[in-house]
Amino acid sequence: MKAVIIKEHGGPEVLSYEQVSDPVAQEGHALVKVNYCAVNHLDIWVRNGMPGKSVVFPHILGCDICGTILEKFGSFKKGDSVVVYPAVDSNIPRVSFGIIGGFGKYKGGYAEIISVPKNNIIKKPNWLSDKEAAAINISYLTAWNMLEKSRCKKDDTILIWGANSGVGSAAILLAKAKGLKVITITSDKNKTTLAKRLGADFIIDRSIKDVTSEVLRLTNQVGVDAVIDHVGTKTWPVSLEVLKVKGRMVSCGTTTGGEGIVNIRSFYSKEAQIIGAYLGSKSQLVSLHKFMKLKKIRPVIDSVFDLKDVKKAHQRMEESSQFGKILLQVSS
Ligand SMILES: NC(=O)c1ccc[n+]([C@@H]2O[C@H](COP(=O)([O-])OP(=O)(O)OC[C@H]3O[C@@H](n4cnc5c(N)ncnc54)[C@H](OP(=O)(O)O)[C@@H]3O)[C@@H](O)[C@H]2O)c1
Repeated sequence: MKAVIIKEHGGPEVLSYEQVSDPVAQEGHALVKVNYCAVNHLDIWVRNGMPGKSVVFPHILGCDICGTILEKFGSFKKGDSVVVYPAVDSNIPRVSFGIIGGFGKYKGGYAEIISVPKNNIIKKPNWLSDKEAAAINISYLTAWNMLEKSRCKKDDTILIWGANSGVGSAAILLAKAKGLKVITITSDKNKTTLAKRLGADFIIDRSIKDVTSEVLRLTNQVGVDAVIDHVGTKTWPVSLEVLKVKGRMVSCGTTTGGEGIVNIRSFYSKEAQIIGAYLGSKSQLVSLHKFMKLKKIRPVIDSVFDLKDVKKAHQRMEESSQFGKILLQVSS
């Protein structure tokens, strides 16, 4: 089969499109022909490498998969359209789970065929196209989990960082469909225009405005009920500062770094909560599909690249030029 493999960690140049052996399904696993695989920030982390984390080279990235079943099992027939729930056992103490194509032993979806645990395979909802279905399993599921953990109710106000990001754009669509008031952040005019189309109520362009004072102005100095923070070091102090009394900051990412400064006095005196969110469960993915169907939500797709053009796809994400999900077309 054709696949993009990495034989070492590094920049986009380590992504190599090659002919490799087909995987063999072990006990309890099934082979899936990959049609589309979305690009996620995790792919960049794994490609670059991280201290204390390891993969077995050659490794295959890609965790966000839509494809077709290659051999029947259980209630699945050959040719059924499916998505792959990305979480697998982590085998690491105090870590909830590993991610297919992430750090760990599972090879990912930048390949024409993937072997995954049968238990991770879910029928693709037929109202979603293959592209759309591949865009949901990571960013939308994480955003859904974060919104649930935020415990926001209708008419509550939520701050969502990075309107153009996979997680941010998903969170805006889902939060609006839940009846929340959304303040979101962009960094240029074009992203602001696109964020308006997603239905955000207030958009702050951080290249021209100070986020803390704008959020406080928009909320009459009260602050927001919750913050969806996937950015990390650079945004944590602001996220905590703009929380109202008893506000919740839900954190899932470290795009700008993994160390967060917490003003402890301000944190306890407003009885704030910092809540971690890691992906979401398989049953949450199924309820997310139902919610999106009910509310007629289609994932925002930025662009589709051929698998062999994966370097361009990674560059687009690393430049943060995307608005929504970047996809790889793996097979047709
Ligand atoms: N815990 C989990 O289960 C889970 C699941 C999914 C994702 N994640 C993590 O969540 C993060 C986002 O993932 P993604 O795939 O959505 O990423 P992405 O599409 O690459 O988006 C990155 C976002 O970060 C924003 N950003 C960068 N620097 C910033 C700064 N200094 N201030 C404010 N915003 C800044 C960018 O905004 P501009 O373009 O405006 O700069 C962009 O919106 C990643 O760290 C990823 O690993 C975690």
